[in-house]
Amino acid sequence: MTQDELKTLVGQAALHYVDAGSIVGVGTGSTVNKFIDALATMKDRIAGAVSSSAASTERLQALGIKVFDASEVDELAVYIDGADEIDHAGYMIKGGGAALTREKIVAAQSRKFVCIADQSKYVATLGCYPLPVEVIPMAAKRVAQQFLALGGTATLRIKDGAPLVTDNGQYLLDVTGLKITDPLAFESQVNQWPGVVTVGVFAFQKAHVCLLGTEDGVKTLVF
Ligand code: 5RP
Repeated sequence: MTQDELKTLVGQAALHYVDAGSIVGVGTGSTVNKFIDALATMKDRIAGAVSSSAASTERLQALGIKVFDASEVDELAVYIDGADEIDHAGYMIKGGGAALTREKIVAAQSRKFVCIADQSKYVATLGCYPLPVEVIPMAAKRVAQQFLALGGTATLRIKDGAPLVTDNGQYLLDVTGLKITDPLAFESQVNQWPGVVTVGVFAFQKAHVCLLGTEDGVKTLVF
């Protein structure tokens, strides 16, 4: 199976976690796009979605799914999202699609995080994928220096020849060269740095379940 077919498989499998009549938390990315397409097949049986990005909102609405603002909803039963890396404990690196801050917010208001990922995302230790960090622009250089002191190299994410600006009006750093052996401690540490909006380690908002697309079908990992 191709990676795209594995993404379709887990996107469809995630429907199992969506309760009739509920509002669903929806992440961002190419795997989530497969989930959104699958969700459209039951759009008349759900109340709607809370979205983690402008891109997902656009796709949900185009398929006729009502999108609620996060502040209109108290708690969500489930949040469904992809990952750039996920480990044996459900800790993740996220933010390859630049939506990490809103993803963490919607994950935090959800009782269960179901991660959908193809097998290439499953890793022993987080850190091979460049770690996304959303920063306030004036802090970008200083935060990059702080990563350097930890042995990481931070690069400003560029799009169309200019710094990428997130849905929240901020910049993104992508940090290579880190081995994140204690994700909870690492997330706590980087969150303290002035100017960091969100670090793309999802340890406090880790996955409870991962639907992993493999050659043998969808494996369900429970953490
Ligand atoms: C977006 C994300 C995505 O979930 C992550 O980048 C995985 O994306 P894809 O499903 O396209 O591989 O965190 O900010």
